[in-house]
Amino acid sequence: MDLDLLNETACAMVAPGKGILAADESTGTIGKRFASINLDNTPDNRRDWREMLFRTTEAMSERISGVILYDETIRQKAADGTPLVKLIQDAGSIPGIKVDTGAKPLAGADGEMITEGLDGLRDRLADYFELGARFAKWRAVINIGQGGDDGVPSQYCINTNMHALARYATLCQEASIVPIVEPEVIMDGDHSIERCYEVTEFALKTLYRELFDQGVVLEGTILKPNMVISGTTNGERAGVEEVADMTVQCLANCVPAAVPGIAFLSGGQSDEEATAHLNAMNANYELPWPLTFSYGRALQAPPLKAWAGKAENVAAAQAAFDHRAKMNGLAALGEWEAEMEKELA
Ligand code: 13P
Repeated sequence: MDLDLLNETACAMVAPGKGILAADESTGTIGKRFASINLDNTPDNRRDWREMLFRTTEAMSERISGVILYDETIRQKAADGTPLVKLIQDAGSIPGIKVDTGAKPLAGADGEMITEGLDGLRDRLADYFELGARFAKWRAVINIGQGGDDGVPSQYCINTNMHALARYATLCQEASIVPIVEPEVIMDGDHSIERCYEVTEFALKTLYRELFDQGVVLEGTILKPNMVISGTTNGERAGVEEVADMTVQCLANCVPAAVPGIAFLSGGQSDEEATAHLNAMNANYELPWPLTFSYGRALQAPPLKAWAGKAENVAAAQAAFDHRAKMNGLAALGEWEAEMEKELA
């Protein structure tokens, strides 16, 4: 384990005004995204899409500190034969890798999930380090029970998922790879923001106890949490200020100051909503850690729509990606304003 490298990588991932591009959709998930633009889910189309993002010079060199890749992509070459990893490195960004193998139904717990992928992980991490990865991601999925079912998430679900996250994190650190620990409390449902707070607190407190029990060095980790937010179908969704306030309060109660940084997932928020929430936290609070983005959908939705799988749309798609990356980079500094969204029009 190289602690200096771990800490250096973690700090670079949350450098001021920069955040992470989550481009680690599994083949099935990217297929769903491509279906929205009527594009076939082929290896070449996946390469073209990601190559286009990684060649977006301004976004990649100024706003994107690191890119989370999927196993296929970390081994894939651009159309001209350059490894995609090299495109990322040449832009001054850090390649990372998703190492979990997905969330599966948790045995004996209706409606709950457990993330798999620990078997053989030590060997896979050594391989990924050789391929250039300096950080990794593992996502736990925590559902909130609906219709007044406060038995979900269960203690069993939280314990097993946080235990697995800590086991993954120790293996990453042994391989000098920074673990992004991601306990995602899912936004789907009609639950209140207060219920989201409760569940997020439950997950984070358990996570940090497990990380401590298993000897994870916090200075070499990054937290990727959900924001504390109302369920998507809740009739009275909390506004931007309330989301920012409750998220900051929850994190301050749960996350040690030794953690080098926090990079949020977008989780189904619209792109502008995800930017506005991040900005409000950075603009209005004194915080012990940098708060930034590690967005998938909220960074990729506009360029995907602009691209539509057509070579003639590459410039427009790159402009859309540049714009979203810039907006989120400014939000990470608390310097974004809604007016700026018109710049691209
Ligand atoms: P979203 O921002 O689309 O939630 O994706 C981030 C991510 O990496 C989830 O694991």
